Amino acid sequence: MKIGLFDSGIGGVSVLKKLAYLNGAHYIYVADTDRAPYGIKTTETLERYIYEILSFLHQKGVSKIFAACNTTDSIILEKNINPGIEYHSIIEAGVCAVKSDMVGIIGTNITVQSATYKSRLEQLEKRVFQKATQLFVSLVEEGIFYGRMVEAVANFYLTPLKKKNIEELILGCTHFPFLKGIISRVLPNVRIIDPAEELSHNISVSKEKRAFVDFYVTGSSKEFERKLRRINFRIPYRVHNLDVKQ
Ligand code: SIN
Repeated sequence: MKIGLFDSGIGGVSVLKKLAYLNGAHYIYVADTDRAPYGIKTTETLERYIYEILSFLHQKGVSKIFAACNTTDSIILEKNINPGIEYHSIIEAGVCAVKSDMVGIIGTNITVQSATYKSRLEQLEKRVFQKATQLFVSLVEEGIFYGRMVEAVANFYLTPLKKKNIEELILGCTHFPFLKGIISRVLPNVRIIDPAEELSHNISVSKEKRAFVDFYVTGSSKEFERKLRRINFRIPYRVHNLDVKQ
């Protein structure tokens, strides 16, 4: 079985790790580092990237796609894009994981502007507070997971949410689980939801074979391998270059 995932960079690897632990499938992961970050692009541009990457994943013969980027998932859901294949939304998974009534959401500019999480949660009569935390994406891509700079950025972004007395916080971007430590320190009494945990319930458990990953990287493959080493990625993999138009 081949499973497809895509993201602007390293963030979606937080989803990939959860799936690959449960199912030893062959994973095809597109890291669109040449056109990153996604969260500040227009929806028209992102729609073009989405169609291009979906068509590449189809050509590679994937039988399922797991969303590894909330930004593109919000566009797929809002614009009713049919991925043409079994597709598992990370936003819908995140919504399912909510248990309380006062919920915070952090995500990229596009995810927050789309209000996809917010509208779905409000339909469930939750009170929702959103905050775009775009800089977190750059910190994670740079491998800066802790230290005074991250603390300052986390305090700046999260203090307004703290004042709203939220009970749960959805990490509405796949880069953010890499900053879970500092986020929980700023919001100590808040349950942190990583939607990938809920998403991973949608994959069948099959550990007969060891997972293998083919990464297709649109930017520098050397730089991407360096990032994989930095996050201690241990699943066997190959990295290839993928050419795309800007
Ligand atoms: C991005 O790829 O720029 C952000 C990832 C996400 O929204 O989950």
